[in-house]
Amino acid sequence: MLAMARRVTKAVIPAAGLGTRFLPATKAIPKEMLPVVDRPAIQYVVEEAAGAGLTDLLMVTGRNKTPLENHFDRVAELEETLAQRGDEEKLAAVRAPQELADMHYLRQGNPLGLGHAVLRAHQHVGNDSFGVLLGDDIIVGGDELMREMIRVHEATGASVIAVQEVPMEDVRSYGVVSPRLVDGEPERVDGFRWPCVRLAELVEKPEPEQAPSNLAVLGRYVLRPEVFDVLEQTAPGRGGEIQLTDALQVLAKNPDIGGGVIALVFDGRRYDTGNKLDYVKANLELASQHPNIGAELRAWLRENIDQLAGPPEA
Ligand code: G1P
Repeated sequence: MLAMARRVTKAVIPAAGLGTRFLPATKAIPKEMLPVVDRPAIQYVVEEAAGAGLTDLLMVTGRNKTPLENHFDRVAELEETLAQRGDEEKLAAVRAPQELADMHYLRQGNPLGLGHAVLRAHQHVGNDSFGVLLGDDIIVGGDELMREMIRVHEATGASVIAVQEVPMEDVRSYGVVSPRLVDGEPERVDGFRWPCVRLAELVEKPEPEQAPSNLAVLGRYVLRPEVFDVLEQTAPGRGGEIQLTDALQVLAKNPDIGGGVIALVFDGRRYDTGNKLDYVKANLELASQHPNIGAELRAWLRENIDQLAGPPEA
């Protein structure tokens, strides 16, 4: 039996990507700074981590990402001006990001892939289990998901990833997993809010014909520190990049190294804000729940739905 894991308080947020899917909006600002309703996309991810008790955060960034550091730092002049005006609401909004977590930053250096970005965090993370949250994913209720993933990790000692069913034609955009089978049935790990299964295999961005399932890896992970040793040995894979999925495949195949890999099958809503359509959907969903503008937006949508939606596509 593997030693039970210690409390997880650290997380790595890879944020070095160029954001080419969103040009020209991301020509001069990082994609993580695009606003979703009233906050930059990255703030949702940091709020989610903090909400799950991950308060020691390392962002792995790159060139042109200084706005991220500025966003989570104090701006004394702005705070003074708002305080003098007595604008408590805006003052609280300006202060919120810097109070969420203990933020650390590291540049990735060479853009060698997600696995490489995570490996760069080794020194900061040390010998503890840690979370990884990818900045492009906004998950509605994500702090609950992350908290449950930590619970699964603490109970089993395994690395834990979140997966979700996607249409088969979309698997080529994701890491894809297949469960370990016992007597022909997926090996379940019971007792958690969402179904959990032990994994046999993970493949990065397969063609649908080669995909072992349509269970796609979401950008949320709770990893054992053994993943660093595996990443050190991981050769470039899909797209010539060092893939986190490939390192997890080694952990899944060799449970004696790091306790194996468990996938939690999440059924909630998730948006990839690096994708234009998903970005608009995320804005609509979060705006329609917003305390200040939600009710008005919902009324406006109901009034204009026919004109907005138009006739059904042929
Ligand atoms: C990364 C991972 C992939 C995962 C995806 C989730 O890919 O490599 O396994 O399914 O995030 O968003 P990316 O979207 O960075 O290409």
